[in-house]
Amino acid sequence: MNILVLGSGGREHAFALKISQSPRCKKLFVAPGNAGTAAIAENVNIKVTDFQTIGDYFEKDDQLKNVLLVGPGANGAQLEGSKDFSKDFMNRHGVPTAKSKTFTIDTLEEGLNYVSSHPTPIVLKADGLAAGKGVIISETAEHARETLKEMLVDAKFGEASSRVVVEQFLHGIELSVFVLSDGSDYKILPEAKDYKRIGEKDTGLNTGGMGAISPVPFATKEFLAKVEEKVIKPTINGLKQEGIDYKGFLFIGLMNMEGEPFVIEYNVRMGDPETQSVLSRIDSDLLEILEGSANGTLKEKTFSVSSQTATTVVMVAGGYPEAYEKGKEITGIEHVNEATVFHAGTQLSPAGKVLTNGGRVLAVTGMGTSVEKALENAYNGVSKIAWQDQYHRRDIGQDILNLLK
Ligand code: AMP
Ligand code: GLY
Repeated sequence: MNILVLGSGGREHAFALKISQSPRCKKLFVAPGNAGTAAIAENVNIKVTDFQTIGDYFEKDDQLKNVLLVGPGANGAQLEGSKDFSKDFMNRHGVPTAKSKTFTIDTLEEGLNYVSSHPTPIVLKADGLAAGKGVIISETAEHARETLKEMLVDAKFGEASSRVVVEQFLHGIELSVFVLSDGSDYKILPEAKDYKRIGEKDTGLNTGGMGAISPVPFATKEFLAKVEEKVIKPTINGLKQEGIDYKGFLFIGLMNMEGEPFVIEYNVRMGDPETQSVLSRIDSDLLEILEGSANGTLKEKTFSVSSQTATTVVMVAGGYPEAYEKGKEITGIEHVNEATVFHAGTQLSPAGKVLTNGGRVLAVTGMGTSVEKALENAYNGVSKIAWQDQYHRRDIGQDILNLLK
C-alpha cells in the first residue's frame, strides 16, 4: 500500500514511524513532514490547509473517491469545530457532560443574568476554534460578566466567540481517551494524560502539550468500563443515528469526578504529544487498523496493547509558547538509544544538519515496565540532546508517581 500522512508534528512522525514498520507499507509520504519523517518517508511539500475539508474533497472527486481515507468529513468535524454543536450532541445522546447554556449577542442580557446567579468557578467557552485559548475559567461572577461581554460584544476571539458556551466547572482529574471508528464499529486505544502548561507543577501559560503518559493509573478497569458504556457507545451510536459516517480518530477529553466520567470536549483527531505515548504502546500492525477504519472492517482486525508505560517529554525552543527563535542546530539525537526521538518543529539544513524550526521541537518517548523506568528512559534520552535555549519540563509524570506512592 502507498500511504500519505498529513501534518508535520511529533504526532505525524509517530504515525509515520508505526506505519513504516508494517510489512504492507510500500511507499510512505508525509506532507509536509519534518527532518524526522524525512529519514523514514518521502516528505512532500503540500500544506495541510491547502483544502479545508479533505474528506469531503476526496469523496467528491471521481479519481480520488476510491482512496482509503482516515479522518472525518466536515459534518463529523463539528464535534471539535463547534462547542455548541458538541454540547447539543452530548445532550441529545445522553453523554455525561457539564451543564451548560449557549449565548449570543442577541441574548447578552440573559447571559449576564445567567452568569450572575451561577455558582463559581464558571467556565466560558468560545464556540469556535480559538487556537486552544478560547476557554476561560472565571473565579467570580464579576469576571465572568466581563469575559462574556469581551467575547460577545468585543469579539475577543473574532467569529469564534460570536457564540459562547457557559458551563459548570467540573472538579476532578483529567485524562483523555482515544477511539478509532469505522463509522459502525470502534476500537479503544490506550488512554493518556497530558501536561498542558509550560511551567513545572502546571504553572504558566497553556501550550500545545509539554508531555504525556500512558496508561493512567487512576483510569481503573472499572472507570474505563464506565467510559465505554456511558460515553463511547452513545457517542458512536449518536454519530450513526445522525447520519455522520465517522471514519477516524476521536479524542475524548474527560474529567474523572469521583469515579464518574464527564466529557469536557471532543477533538476529531489524535492529540500531540499523547499520540507519541499511545502509539508506542500499540503492538498490532497500525496500518491494518487504519485500513479497517477507512473501509469499515475494524471488527475483523486484531488490536493488542503493551502493558508497558510510555512517557513523552517535549523539548521546546526557549520562549515558547510566546516568541522564540528558530534555526538552532540540534546535537546528540544520534546518541539516544533508550528512547524514541520524535521530531516536531525541525528542519534539515542544506548541509544535512537538524535545525529547530518551531516551538515544540522534539518529543522524546521512553518505555518501561514501571512509570519510574519509563521516565528514566525518556529523561536519559532528553539529557543527551542539546541546542541553544532548549527547555523542557522536568516533572512529567511526577503527579502519577506521587499518586502511586
Ligand atoms: P478545551 O479547550 O475544551 O480543551 O478546554 C481547555 C481546558 O479547560 C481543559 O483541558 C480543562 O482543563 C479546562 N476545562 C474545560 N471545561 C471545563 C469544565 N467544565 N470544568 C473544569 N475544567 C474545564
Ligand atoms: N495535546 C492536546 C492536543 O493535541 O489537543
